[in-house]
Amino acid sequence: MTLAIYPGSFDPITKGHMDVLQRASKLFDKVIIAVLKNSSKKCFIPLEDRLNLIRECCSHLPNVEIDSFNGLTVDYAKQKNATVLIRGMRAITDFEYEMQMAQMNNTLYSELETVFLTTKPKYNFVSSSIIKEAALLGGDVSRLVPENVYNYLLNLKKETK
Ligand code: PNS
Repeated sequence: MTLAIYPGSFDPITKGHMDVLQRASKLFDKVIIAVLKNSSKKCFIPLEDRLNLIRECCSHLPNVEIDSFNGLTVDYAKQKNATVLIRGMRAITDFEYEMQMAQMNNTLYSELETVFLTTKPKYNFVSSSIIKEAALLGGDVSRLVPENVYNYLLNLKKETK
């Protein structure tokens, strides 16, 4: 059985992430979305809300599990006996950071292979940061995030008025 982890901040999960996840769930026996708790990036959406949004989005994917972790991704992968790490690759701008991370992770734990998956081209420019910025300034991001995330961002916008 091949277990893959899909780590990230998911602040919030987007349709780009969902596209990568759906592809991964077809390729591997089980996929764990692993949300980093103690990111050096300051996350905008509280961890519990990010997890709940992801849970709602993944209810139709029986081989996908949702979890959170602290510390090194490779330590989490070892603990779970995962042999594959999934990352989405959008444009060439992602390449340098993703390659560095994949090589560092493989140096720290050589049993772990990073597999890069691309999204549908229509999601190539989508990032959580750009989504948050646009949504909180009133932009319509409904085509770029799952419906529950869209509603969550609308509520956040109302609360921050
Ligand atoms: O969605 P993101 O923010 O691009 O995800 C980045 C993430 C969480 C995968 C990366 O920051 C990470 O693995 N952090 C855990 C700490 C770690 O293992 N660092 C060494 C990786 S080179």
